[in-house]
This record gives sequence, C-alpha cells and structure tokens, in this order.
Amino acid sequence: MSDAGNVLVTGGAGFIGSHVCKRLAAAGYQPIVLDNLSRGFRSSVKWGPLEVADIGDGARVREILNRYRPIGVMHFSAFTSVGESVQQPALYYSNNVGATAVLLQAVIEHGAPPFVFSSTAAIYGNPASVPVDEDHPHRPINPYGRSKLYVEHMLADANQASGLPWVALRYFNAAGCDPDGEIGERHDPETHLIPIIVRAALKGSTVSIFGDDYDTPDGTCIRDYIHVNDLADAHILALKYLARGGKSCGINLANSKGFSVREVLATVERVCGRPVAVKIDPRRPGDPAVLIGKTERAKELLGWSPKRSDLELQVRDAWNWYENFLPSV
Ligand SMILES: NC(=O)c1ccc[n+]([C@@H]2O[C@H](COP(=O)([O-])OP(=O)(O)OC[C@H]3O[C@@H](n4cnc5c(N)ncnc54)[C@H](O)[C@@H]3O)[C@@H](O)[C@H]2O)c1
Repeated sequence: MSDAGNVLVTGGAGFIGSHVCKRLAAAGYQPIVLDNLSRGFRSSVKWGPLEVADIGDGARVREILNRYRPIGVMHFSAFTSVGESVQQPALYYSNNVGATAVLLQAVIEHGAPPFVFSSTAAIYGNPASVPVDEDHPHRPINPYGRSKLYVEHMLADANQASGLPWVALRYFNAAGCDPDGEIGERHDPETHLIPIIVRAALKGSTVSIFGDDYDTPDGTCIRDYIHVNDLADAHILALKYLARGGKSCGINLANSKGFSVREVLATVERVCGRPVAVKIDPRRPGDPAVLIGKTERAKELLGWSPKRSDLELQVRDAWNWYENFLPSV
C-alpha cells in the first residue's frame, strides 16, 4: 500500500479515469483500477494494478475490495454516448444504473468509504438559464443523463440508509489530455468536439457543424470545456473533503467560460497550422444554444478552481496526443 492508501478506480482504463490515476499516484495514493476493458485500454493503466472485472459482478468486486481495502472509491465506469443511449436505453440503464447498484452494495458492505461519482451536466437537460448552478432543476433529456441522475438518487438513498459519504462531480465537457502524452482520449466512435476537429485536421476530413443559426454571437452552439487534469485535481480534493466529514452533494466541475463551435475550430486551425473543412448540417434535437456551468460550490467546498481553462492549452494537449502518440486513429 502507498502512503496515502489505496483508491479503487472503476473505469480507470478509460479517458478520465486514467488521467485521475496518474494524479492519484503523484499525490501518494495507489490507484487500483477495476475495468472490464469494454471501452478502455490496458495500455492506459500505468500507475497501479489492473483488475479486469465488471462492476456488475458482485463476487469479483467483493474479492477486489477485500484484497486491496481501499480508503475511497472513484466511480468512472459507465457507457457515455448520448446518441447510443437513445438507441439502446436498456444497455445504459443496465450498465450505468443496474451494475452501479451491485458495486454500491459491495462498497457499503466494505464499510462505506468515501465515494466520488462521475456525474454530468446532462442531468440538467436544457438549461433554463446560464450559467447553470447545482440547484438548477434536474431534467435530463436522454437516457444517458437519466442514468446518471438515477445514480445520484441511489447515492443519496445509500447515504440515508448506510451513511455512505458521496460526492457527484458533474462535469461539463471534458477536454485536453495528459500534457506528457502518456495517456489521452480514445473514444470509438469519438463524439467530443475537440478530438473530432483535431482528428479532421490530421486526416484532412470534413467536420459537421450542427446549426449555425443559434442565438449566439456567431450562430454556433457555445459549450464549457474543462481540462481533464483539472477534473483529476477535483477528484482528489473531493476525496479529501469527504474524508474530513464534508457534506454529501453534487458539485459542478466547469470552466465557467463558453466557447462556440467556430471558436474551437479557429483554435484548432491555429494550433495545428492546418485548415479544417466544415459543412453546415441541420441542428440536432435537444442541443441547447449555450451550456456553461457555475462553479462557486467547487471553490467553496473543495477549494478548487480550474487552472487550465485556456482553450488553446486544451487544444494543444489534445493535438500533441493525437499527432505524436496515437498516430493510428
Ligand atoms: N468525457 C466527458 O466529457 C464526460 C462528461 C461528463 C461525465 N463523464 C463521465 O465520466 C466517466 C468517464 O468518462 P470517459 O470519457 O473517461 O469514458 P471512457 O469510455 O473513456 O471510460 C469508461 C471506462 O469504463 C469502463 N467500463 C464501462 N462499463 C464497465 C463495467 N460495467 N465494468 C467495468 N468497467 C466498465 C470502460 O471499459 C472504460 O474504460 C463516465 O462515467 C462518464 O459518464 C464524462
């Protein structure tokens, strides 16, 4: 065991979980990755043991908890594509909600250590106003968002019943990659804007803009991008917050600044030194014009604020990864 203790990281072979593992190790914790590798990569697990297992397999989860005796759990494992969740809702409810219930039961039997959950701004649905704070109504508009909200409800119930301390970190759009290029974003298919544009720049392919007639300065949608290492820092702060008896709750993790699709495009073109061809497609149903998060709670409770909010920095790290370390995509 390391100085600060073992932390169980479900989904630690994925994009955000692997970045958090690197930060956990740097902070003196030993990350124990539990991942079924359905959407993650063995090669992304570099800072502690990998247990190839499904969180829905209660017997395996108990065995892993008994072996490593973690002082906290960070729960990243989930399916994460909004479009896929609309096509296959049962898959999302089964993997994101049902399997999480199995994990939770085992964690509670293990003594209910602090539990940090990867939630999402998708639980808010179409924002009634921006920036969105944590008290905004929770009205998800797709099965993915609902699956995450149901887990937040399960956590609140588990807290009532068993005292499980929890924080649900509601990320806006995770972006960037490890600046050292040791790990990066690898979704297949990729649905996130920055990697889509970076990959188009590398391949010389065309990027679709879904609507350029929104009520925004340049007509394209505005989103809030948060660097994955800023997310990683917040997870460690959240673990410490719960360990010192902090109140269980949902906390936004956002940049608090919005960038339009055209601003992201221009930034990628500048960083990559290559033009990117675009075509304008119809709006996608359910896409709000502007989505920006408010992060006062993260600052107040965790002492967190983003350090890599600059869009150019986020794009540069993503470009570095795709160009130098993942040339086959
Ligand atoms: N990427 C974003 O912008 C974003 C935004 C908001 C919330 N989130 C949440 O953050 C978390 C991580 O997202 P990501 O982008 O790193 O996703 P990812 O797909 O890269 O990683 C998810 C990991 O979970 C694993 N996994 C899935 N189901 C499993 C199961 N039943 N048992 C064990 N392992 C399983 C996969 O193999 C994968 O390694 C997810 O919960 C996601 O909902 C992500």
